[in-house]
Amino acid sequence: MEKTIRAGILGAAKIASKMAKTMLAVDGIALCAVASRQLEKAQAFIDALELPADAPVPKAYGSYEEMVKDPTLDLIYVCTPQSFHYPHTMLCLENGKSVLCEKAFMLNAKQAKKATTLAKEKGLFLGEAIWTRFFPLIEDIRKALNDGVIGAPHMMTASFCVNNQHNQRMYDPALGGGALLDLGVYVLTCIDLLFGLDYDSFQTTAELTELGVDAKSVTTFHYPDGRTATAIFSMNTIGDNSVIVGGDQGYLSIPSVTSWTSAKAYDQRKNLLAELQGPEPFTGFEYELEAAISAIRAGKSECPQMPHERIVRMLETMDALRQEWGMVLPGDSQL
Ligand SMILES: NC(=O)c1ccc[n+]([C@@H]2O[C@H](COP(=O)([O-])OP(=O)(O)OC[C@H]3O[C@@H](n4cnc5c(N)ncnc54)[C@H](OP(=O)(O)O)[C@@H]3O)[C@@H](O)[C@H]2O)c1
Repeated sequence: MEKTIRAGILGAAKIASKMAKTMLAVDGIALCAVASRQLEKAQAFIDALELPADAPVPKAYGSYEEMVKDPTLDLIYVCTPQSFHYPHTMLCLENGKSVLCEKAFMLNAKQAKKATTLAKEKGLFLGEAIWTRFFPLIEDIRKALNDGVIGAPHMMTASFCVNNQHNQRMYDPALGGGALLDLGVYVLTCIDLLFGLDYDSFQTTAELTELGVDAKSVTTFHYPDGRTATAIFSMNTIGDNSVIVGGDQGYLSIPSVTSWTSAKAYDQRKNLLAELQGPEPFTGFEYELEAAISAIRAGKSECPQMPHERIVRMLETMDALRQEWGMVLPGDSQL
């Protein structure tokens, strides 16, 4: 029988409830601990869980440092704000724990290189919980495009625009705020999945908040073969949040920039050319968890859906955008 991965959650974040629910349902993993900076908060999080009869009751920890020293844990899900992903991931790795870290993986490529290098040195798994990367339909969409469903793909646009003005974390530079590291990461992921990030130039424009994080931006990447990919994201404007790939024979539409569960291709007159449908997800987080479980069981530091080299390339692209915008975060120098 294969080993059950014993997991802990670092930070009783809003998103942690969805991950906990997924951990309680996915085979091969057990939620065994939750750490918060306050013990009562970790306990309240555990008390609110709907634990299956056969699941262990997770242990509450009142400090992250204490939980990562628990010798019974294999994997830690880090879901603190962006500026803490690097120190918290390093804390876990230094204590011999594999890590699944929320998006955006870290603030910059330098931090990502340091962390992925340490994971490899220690033979521990380190992955980014960017759930979009793990949907099974991705391969079908790529195949349809390669098979010429819309002819030769020339242009793509991906957007993620929501009004998150109530979310203080996203507006705070000290927490790694801004649309790029929260929403833009999905848009760039879609571009990476379909066109790659080997562009040879880009044009970008962004509006920064008074505190200096990006509120909205538009970027067009130009590829050596003439293709273009346009990324639009905002945290104060509402959009339709879809992905469109245009070719010379038609266009492909993915209705959700985050969850790739369906796609349709049409010709110029909007006649349906193809319809792709993936399995109905549970929460959508099950695929990234399954990838982490497989990698840990196989003794691998990375998973094929999101190898370390892609994690670093994403952050290099984000670094390049921020450089153009003049956006520096307080945590940038932290190494
Ligand atoms: N994959 C997805 O679909 C998805 C969706 C939303 C968010 N996310 C990502 O998940 C992470 C958390 O997002 P969230 O919206 O859930 O955040 P959140 O509710 O604000 O939670 C962040 C948690 O981080 C901990 N923390 C540690 N130091 C902190 C500090 N100085 N200030 C604030 N919190 C601190 C807190 O846990 P304790 O108080 O328990 O210590 C807090 O509950 C982010 O990286 C975000 O990008 C992913």
